[in-house]
Amino acid sequence: MTLSEYYNESYKSLMLLSTDKLSAQVLPMSKGQLQFVQEAKNKFLANKDWSDLRILELGSGVGGVSLELARLGAQVTICDFSNLAIDLAQKLFSFHGLEVNAFVSDLTLPEPGFSGKFDIIIDGHLLHCLTEDYQRASFFKLIKEYLSEDGVFTCETMVHKKKIFIPDNFKFDDDTYTLWQFLGSWQPVRKISDSLDLENEIKQHQLSIRSFFYYSQMGMVPHQSFMDLPVEILPAAVRMVLSH
Ligand SMILES: C[S@@+](CC[C@H](N)C(=O)[O-])C[C@H]1O[C@@H](n2cnc3c(N)ncnc32)[C@H](O)[C@@H]1O
Repeated sequence: MTLSEYYNESYKSLMLLSTDKLSAQVLPMSKGQLQFVQEAKNKFLANKDWSDLRILELGSGVGGVSLELARLGAQVTICDFSNLAIDLAQKLFSFHGLEVNAFVSDLTLPEPGFSGKFDIIIDGHLLHCLTEDYQRASFFKLIKEYLSEDGVFTCETMVHKKKIFIPDNFKFDDDTYTLWQFLGSWQPVRKISDSLDLENEIKQHQLSIRSFFYYSQMGMVPHQSFMDLPVEILPAAVRMVLSH
């Protein structure tokens, strides 16, 4: 199974929902990330209105965060390598009467399809899906290429904590901080970095850290097999804002 097929699997059940039910199910799940992006905009781009902003969401899934930003007046572009996610996103935007530029691309490869510079680039929980150094290096390169001079990159990502519960069918490699899942063969599915390593990785890719907060009590769920676990044994979260 390729990784885009793996992600498509998680969107198949949503394809069965009517658009109003899809909307009711997915929009509330975007609330936390949306609030974080709004706070970043208010702090770092305070002199701009939403309608002045070009926003790009990477690993958008069904695009819940971007949809709310489009409602505020921003011009939004979304990108994901799951064609099902992008189909669902397009359905949702047209259901709400909102415009979106949508692309199906692998964001670890050059030439993703979109063009121009963006005032805000949002990581839609994508960074921790990129397990290999070369994929992450391409991703950081892409951010630098598409971020406007005074733009900001917002990222909420999962990070390591001493005690993480690993369910059956998964294994965690402590040397590379990689979570593997058995999908017929073992596949690397998440990079759950140590937060200090993450800071160093950002500096190595020559991005500036404008803010970096570690939330030990904000448990992040790597996969539905981790659902309903107590926060103490889930990966923690980092919310960071980067710029050139
Ligand atoms: C954890 S999901 C998050 C989806 C959504 N942003 C959210 O927060 O609910 C990660 C998304 O990134 C996409 N993705 C993973 N690797 C990708 C890649 N190399 N290029 C583009 N999209 C990718 C997946 O298809 C999936 O939709």
